[in-house]
Amino acid sequence: MDVPSSTWLLTGGAGYIGSHVLRALRAAGHDAVVLDDLSTGLRERLPDDVELLHHDLLDPGLGAVLADLTRRRDVAGVVHLAAKKSVPESVAEPLTYYEHNVGGTVAMLRAATAAGIGRFLYSSSAAVYGETAAEPVGEDHPTLPTSPYGETKLAGEWAVRRHAEAEGLGWTALRYFNVAGTASAALADRGATNLLPLVERAARSGEPVRVFGDDWPTPDGTCLRDYVHVEDLAEAHVAAAAALLEGRSPGALNVGRNAGTSVLEVIAAVSAVRGHEVPYEIVGRRPGDPARVVADASRIADALGWRATRGIEEMCASRP
Ligand code: WQD
Repeated sequence: MDVPSSTWLLTGGAGYIGSHVLRALRAAGHDAVVLDDLSTGLRERLPDDVELLHHDLLDPGLGAVLADLTRRRDVAGVVHLAAKKSVPESVAEPLTYYEHNVGGTVAMLRAATAAGIGRFLYSSSAAVYGETAAEPVGEDHPTLPTSPYGETKLAGEWAVRRHAEAEGLGWTALRYFNVAGTASAALADRGATNLLPLVERAARSGEPVRVFGDDWPTPDGTCLRDYVHVEDLAEAHVAAAAALLEGRSPGALNVGRNAGTSVLEVIAAVSAVRGHEVPYEIVGRRPGDPARVVADASRIADALGWRATRGIEEMCASRP
């Protein structure tokens, strides 16, 4: 195997998205060291030859851990995915989300800079936009998050940008739209709170999945979202890492398909893949849901040459 062109410190690398980013970085010839507290990440998602730093971002010893790592390895940059990501949980426990998502990002920025690491790839979210007035949503859309989760992802972006400007770091923030699918059963999203895992569970159990409203201003009355395959998302991280290695700082970039898919269309796609109708029931709207959230993904295409290549069918087919 060729010598890895660079080694990245991947926080949250034992998670659903992190383990896919790890897989894509290594497929592209890079190497990675994973830092994860395993609170939701799974050690079995990691290949045996990947170094795992089992550590909490909020632990005071983080600086010493990174200082030791950079004495042993030439670390090109940090890919910072470690965060809590449940919108309802963030409403119930806002300080926990500010502590982990904002405090953890600040701790990583400080420790990385102290250890001489000069590039920072930050995992952000479409939740920074809140209620979207435009379709598609461009990066210059107002960022008015409507949940503590979205606020913490936006505050993390601000910290990364300001610190990068102050210290001369290379940086980018990838704003994930709705991530779905998996490269394998082992890497699948276990936290079945998002739509696709819930539809899959209904397909297996026969218990109807709830559809939060069919009276929205959309073609079939159900909410539209921009679903992006987790493998496409992981490849966007590889493209972003390449830009950082070239000395560029692409800033905040939407990661989506510029295509809206409705809840009923997701259910129909899973039904087609499974060969039987997935049961569902229409219930009331979920508070805080916007009708349509679709990415304008032109800036990432221009900046990184990245476009999603997998459609909703692949996302549905790739679930176990
Ligand atoms: C998708 C659509 C629901 C469940 C959240 C975060 C966002 C990002 C992705 C991290 C919506 C509908 C859902 C159900 C349903 N996470 N739905 N029945 O809310 O678009 O985005 O996850 O970055 O930041 O906000 O994702 O999967 O919860 O919902 O009808 O049982 O499916 O109304 O339209 P969401 P979701």
